[in-house]
Amino acid sequence: MNMATVTAKEQLKENVLAQNAEAAAPAAGGSGTIEIRDLHKVYRTRKSSFEALRDIQLTIGSNEFLTILGPSGCGKSTLLRMVAGLDEPSSGMLALDGEEIVGPGAERGMVFQGYTLFPWLTVRENIEYGLKLQGVPTLARRAISNYWIKIIRLESFDKSYPKQLSGGMKQRVAIARALANRPKVLLMDEPFGALDAQTKLEMQEMLLDVWQKEKTTVLFITHDIDEAIFLSQRIVVMGAGPGRILKQFEVNLPAERSPEVREHKEFVALRRELADLLKHD
Ligand SMILES: Nc1ncnc2c1ncn2[C@@H]1O[C@H](COP(=O)(O)OP(=O)(O)OP(=O)(O)O)[C@@H](O)[C@H]1O
Ligand SMILES: [Mg+2]
Repeated sequence: MNMATVTAKEQLKENVLAQNAEAAAPAAGGSGTIEIRDLHKVYRTRKSSFEALRDIQLTIGSNEFLTILGPSGCGKSTLLRMVAGLDEPSSGMLALDGEEIVGPGAERGMVFQGYTLFPWLTVRENIEYGLKLQGVPTLARRAISNYWIKIIRLESFDKSYPKQLSGGMKQRVAIARALANRPKVLLMDEPFGALDAQTKLEMQEMLLDVWQKEKTTVLFITHDIDEAIFLSQRIVVMGAGPGRILKQFEVNLPAERSPEVREHKEFVALRRELADLLKHD
């Protein structure tokens, strides 16, 4: 068999796999719009109660990249956990595409800090996990995991276990695993908080790239001002005591964000304004 035949055959296999991936991946469908109305959260113990969130009103549009920025303890994770359906509001309402959120669902993918990968599964198995649960057939699963392994550039690590990966690699797998299910909404709670500065920048660029391709709605949490500006279309600043929304900012920067955008005068001005707001809260 000559080289040309091998390449043609491989190309054909790639094409078949790619078609399978398209066919197998449930279409993102719907719009991925999140509505939060009159939301209050009070944590009660036997002796005391703590008001974690007060009067939250927020709509996150379809395919929007919205970041919540705020100091430690202002209720960011509490809010995200309720959108994820992992926690219940004390009063008020959360809805996804008009349907009230009452628990977790496959249309909401989650990536939290601390790499929640299954240690007993390989990179590929971790990425395929949700698809397997949904009953997606083996060949189609393989096609989808191939697609994601390529995007996160871990082609030579598909059979590795999480303990053999660096922090950034693990976090890339966690993102791929969440996105392999084609969620309408991606919920991220300080996903890059534990990474070194360089890896963090690479991950931010990868995330923007994926967001542009997948057209997912992203709700991202951070307390890193530069990260918030670089990634988002809109930034919601929260304050503590009780957790509430202080102010919202549209990020008027080009949709294509290159690293140089950090020197853009709009970027610099917004950085200063956000830093001031957080300092005075
Ligand atoms: N299960 C709980 N029971 C009681 N209080 C809680 C509970 N979870 C969170 N809290 C309190 O609610 C407040 C908000 O917590 P939350 O984890 O949402 O903050 P955060 O903004 O995510 O902070 P960080 O930036 O440090 O992650 C904190 O004061 C915390 O002590
Ligand atoms: Mg938190």
